[in-house]
Amino acid sequence: MAKFRGKRKVLEQVKIEGIAAEGKCIARVNDEVLFVEGVAPGDVVDVLITRKKKNFMEGKPLTFHEYSKDRVKPFCQHFGICGGCKWQHIPYDIQLKYKHQQVIDNLERIGKIPLPEVSPILGSSKIKYYRNKLEYTFSNWKWLTQDEIATGEELDRRGLGFHVPGSFDKILDIETCYHQPDPSNEIRLSVRKYCLENDVPFFDLKRRTGNVRNLIIRNSSLDQWMVIVQFAMEHEKNMGLMEHIKTSFPHIHSLQYVINDKGNETFHDLEVKLYSGEAHITEAMEDVQFRVGPKSFYQTNAAQAYELYKIARDYAGLKGDEVVYDLYTGTGTIANFIAKDAKKVIGLEYVEAAIEDAKLNSEINGVTNTEFYAGDMRELLNDDFMSNHDRPDVIITDPPRAGMHEDVIEMLLKIEAEKIVYVSCNPATQARDLALLDVKYTVKKVQPVDMFPQTHHVENVVLLERK
Ligand SMILES: C[S@@+](CC[C@H](N)C(=O)[O-])C[C@H]1O[C@@H](n2cnc3c(N)ncnc32)[C@H](O)[C@@H]1O
Repeated sequence: MAKFRGKRKVLEQVKIEGIAAEGKCIARVNDEVLFVEGVAPGDVVDVLITRKKKNFMEGKPLTFHEYSKDRVKPFCQHFGICGGCKWQHIPYDIQLKYKHQQVIDNLERIGKIPLPEVSPILGSSKIKYYRNKLEYTFSNWKWLTQDEIATGEELDRRGLGFHVPGSFDKILDIETCYHQPDPSNEIRLSVRKYCLENDVPFFDLKRRTGNVRNLIIRNSSLDQWMVIVQFAMEHEKNMGLMEHIKTSFPHIHSLQYVINDKGNETFHDLEVKLYSGEAHITEAMEDVQFRVGPKSFYQTNAAQAYELYKIARDYAGLKGDEVVYDLYTGTGTIANFIAKDAKKVIGLEYVEAAIEDAKLNSEINGVTNTEFYAGDMRELLNDDFMSNHDRPDVIITDPPRAGMHEDVIEMLLKIEAEKIVYVSCNPATQARDLALLDVKYTVKKVQPVDMFPQTHHVENVVLLERK
């Protein structure tokens, strides 16, 4: 039933039915679709309507009348404010069930193509501490929680943590994060303590004053650690902090810093200075090693990336004499991983620095049958490219969330490789692309994979064979 509390429209006693796109929950009220955040299927809640469109409404929970029997207690004290792991209140087996169903729903409703049975989703062996990269922001005006406001005390507003969702200048100070194993928390807390005690000026995100602005902590499955500190300017106190990190955590393999006075925290175009140790850390998959520098991309859940790549390799079914294209190759991880099983692998990717990493990764592994090219896929993979390079027997494609451009799909239909292995982090755009490929390709296998427990994200691998 709808009621108005002042000007606010509230729907009362809404039973949450399921999970929809982008991890929001869905309910139907008088045949109208309602999306709600921060609830679980099975909850009964009063919902404050925050947005009303022709075909749907959006809202947030005001009062819970019943909690779903499928709920669990979130393990993190920051749950609900920090946007990192929004599904902590849903048990992992049920998260997997929803993700699996999300893949099926997208392929059926958007793809509308004949499908084989979808394999059971492959869960992640680690459901906490699975990320190998975290990026924290300093602020001199941290976000206050309701509990902190309730103390009525004048609080120190300097903090180090994550952006509150949807906000560039609201930083939630983090005590414990369950994303990355220790010493990740110890490093962050020690850095914060040092900066507080030594009056290193915390960055002001609005006025762009202050100095220490960002902390990146990366690790690899070989237990190598990289720490990068971003300062807004050269400052007498900078090296004191760097020395503190070095002496407190001698285990750090690569300690670096950046002077960044730009309007944002990206540093791909800035010089990264080595303070101590090596300029990179090393990742490994089977007998292949990958060099990960401060600017290199590497899949965030490395253990599960290995499972994903094994599925892609298995679907490719290589015998050793095939030419393979690895589209959207990034730093050439898949290309180098499968190189020993193929005659030749050609990797294509937009980011030039990633292509340089991909070449380096071939070099350090003694891989001589790979070639890498940088450019926008739409312009790079054209008739000219095809007349100058071997035609692929197998294409592996791993595009960004937006999926492949129509022109790229048209080119794939022209190239007519025997097999296409489509790795996707967005089953909706994948389904759209599969519908376009349907004129020449049949979907033979589908394998959803969970790379990001406690979030709504799901990866999906599809094997297509030429009709
Ligand atoms: C999902 S990542 C795949 C990374 C890689 N396969 C891996 O597993 O490490 C998608 C990649 O596509 C690249 N990319 C995005 N848009 C592109 C475009 N228009 N042309 C070429 N590459 C693009 C991104 O830079 C990114 O490296």
